[in-house]
Amino acid sequence: MKRLAILGSTGSIGQSTLSIVEQFPERYQVAALAAGRNVDEAFAQAVRWKPRILSLATPALAGELANRLHQAGITGIEVTHGTEGTIACSTLPEADFVVSAIVGVAGLEATHAAILAGKPVGLANKECMVAAGEILTAAARTRNVPILPIDSEHNAVHQCLRVGAHNEVKCIWLTASGGPFRQLPLDQFASITPEQALKHPTWVMGRRITIDSATMLNKGLEVIEACRLFDVTPAQVRVTIHPQSTVHSMVEYVDGSILAQISITDMRLPILYALAWPERPKSSLTFDLAGLRHLEFEEPDFQRFPCLRLAFEAAEKGGAHSIALNAADEVAVGAFLERRISFMGIPGTIEKVLAATPEVHPATIAEVLACDREARERARALLA
Ligand SMILES: NC(=O)c1ccc[n+]([C@@H]2O[C@H](COP(=O)([O-])OP(=O)(O)OC[C@H]3O[C@@H](n4cnc5c(N)ncnc54)[C@H](OP(=O)(O)O)[C@@H]3O)[C@@H](O)[C@H]2O)c1
Repeated sequence: MKRLAILGSTGSIGQSTLSIVEQFPERYQVAALAAGRNVDEAFAQAVRWKPRILSLATPALAGELANRLHQAGITGIEVTHGTEGTIACSTLPEADFVVSAIVGVAGLEATHAAILAGKPVGLANKECMVAAGEILTAAARTRNVPILPIDSEHNAVHQCLRVGAHNEVKCIWLTASGGPFRQLPLDQFASITPEQALKHPTWVMGRRITIDSATMLNKGLEVIEACRLFDVTPAQVRVTIHPQSTVHSMVEYVDGSILAQISITDMRLPILYALAWPERPKSSLTFDLAGLRHLEFEEPDFQRFPCLRLAFEAAEKGGAHSIALNAADEVAVGAFLERRISFMGIPGTIEKVLAATPEVHPATIAEVLACDREARERARALLA
């Protein structure tokens, strides 16, 4: 039996993780839940899963939840809040495995603390790896703690890497659906609305990652995530547009063999893989090979998707540039969703923030978070 701490339990990945727990009660139990502001969902999860501890973003929200639990006669759940609360969840002694699925860098300290506490981590939150990949992977190596990627592409790469040695890897091919604007004429990009950008052709996800998929910044973050997770250079990571989203990613070996992972487009499968690794439990998440007609792969268009170019540049520089890429994007995506900037204003903002970012390499999580704050301030100042 594995007892889970789920960080970001009210989000898309968090809820998919809970549906796996529901499906495999003999394998998994909920020990801790951490969420942000969705008190209604947190209350429903507390009632359903009775975690030992539940954390929300602020003291006020935690107080509201504690009151509701008290009124409902539910006892035995410690309700806490903020970064300390999330860390208390990720380091809870009785938790055996931590799912890191808080969006943005809000989950970084708790993910780091989980690794330091020797807990295996299922990592959905790519922003953590982008901002602090060197620190997290070094800590994991020292403590022999596995980091199992939940992001479907990296999960696919993890699976494909199981058959070869590190020095036999020529490159990693990350597939990208191309998002909803793959074929939109370039002159129409300026007038893309948040509603159009929030319609992803294949995946149902949180708002930021959906916009990041439309700009392909998401793929850019994944390039950096792949470099950190699998210890490869940016030149060894290739992106290919694959509109069917059937091949979740590939590894090309030096002898010319390419291994691909194919499965249903359902995040429950990579979550289950991460939770169960190194085992593979039987599941109903099967793929209908007979329904597969064709597989297309195209080169990404860097003019249409400048965020991807910016991400490769940030991957080369690493350190503060990777952090700034993610931070500036989060601010710019917020501004786009509030209709304060255009769709192409997102890469425009990131480019300016990156140009003003010094080439430094933070050595601690505190330094990472300081770089993150500086980049956000630069982005906000630009957008003010
Ligand atoms: N969804 C996918 O298919 C997918 C695929 C690959 C990777 N990912 C990655 O997985 C992560 C989560 O994505 P998602 O789609 O699940 O996002 P989401 O649906 O927006 O959920 C985000 C979660 O983070 C919580 N949260 C936000 N701010 C918080 C804070 N300050 N403290 C504690 N919790 C906080 C939210 O809580 P409230 O809702 O309660 O505010 C929610 O539980 C992201 O890093 C994303 O890039 C997602």
